[in-house]
Amino acid sequence: MKLFAHLLIAASLAIPAHSAFAQEAKPAAAPASAAAVPASADKPDLAKGEASFMAVCAACHAPDGNSLIPVNPKLAQQHPQYLIKQLQEFKAGKRANPIMLGMATTLSDADMKNVAYWVSSKKATPGVAKDKELVLLGERIYRGGIADRQVPACAGCHSPNGAGIPAQYPRLSGQHAEYAVAQLTAFRDGVRGNSLQMTQVAAKLNDREIRAVADYVAGLR
Ligand code: HEC
Ligand code: HEC
Repeated sequence: MKLFAHLLIAASLAIPAHSAFAQEAKPAAAPASAAAVPASADKPDLAKGEASFMAVCAACHAPDGNSLIPVNPKLAQQHPQYLIKQLQEFKAGKRANPIMLGMATTLSDADMKNVAYWVSSKKATPGVAKDKELVLLGERIYRGGIADRQVPACAGCHSPNGAGIPAQYPRLSGQHAEYAVAQLTAFRDGVRGNSLQMTQVAAKLNDREIRAVADYVAGLR
């Protein structure tokens, strides 16, 4: 597991270095008229993303994406591909939530990309575990799963430190425990139906185990 974590860190360090190099390597690629045409379809416009986040989303998710309200998830440092998937699925009703349905309905694909890449560039604030007794159970489940019920270790997909694995597996570390409890319960009860993998994981967890692992995740860093 140590080696795996090490490789992950090495890989994540390698990404910015590589993309900086890629940009340097082809400065001639941007035509002189680039400023006059809209940003290319596959590049997020971070300035636009910030503007719409401040105008609409910051009220609930906080200006830096680190919501202080436990039922509203922290979005800072979350993988942008995951955020875009959620926004599209709120809009399509595949992830049912009346508040976020209303929010996502007003966003185009480009808006979603802009806002997701902007908020993912903000640094996540760490959280704390609050329940001393449950947190040990939570740690056991997170790291090792529950063997006799075939619950897989959360760490296998969300990584040992909860940073997730771009682009498929979301970051969990520091997330509000109340929000994580709500999501795990919603997956289990079929209310959040946008991930078969998580439905299968949560199906085998009881309420106490859900509270325990959510509390552990909140303090993970
Ligand atoms: C009125 C409060 C409110 C506003 C405004 C709001 N949100 Fe949310 N947001 C929520 C709540 C509550 C949830 C949790 C929904 C659930 O339980 O499924 C959420 C969830 C999300 C998620 C899913 C995060 C995850 O970890 O899965 C994303 C992405 C998101 N919001 C983005 C946005 C964006 C972008 C905006 C602005 C366009 C916005 N929100 C505006 C309340 C709000
Ligand atoms: C097989 C891989 C896999 C395993 C194992 C797994 N997860 Fe997940 N998890 C996912 C995926 C994929 C998503 C994103 C679902 C989506 O796209 O909506 C997710 C989403 C979540 C979310 C919602 C995050 C958010 O911001 O809304 C929580 C909470 C979560 N997982 C907790 C756990 C816990 C706790 C465990 C261990 C008991 C666990 N997961 C094990 C793949 C996994």
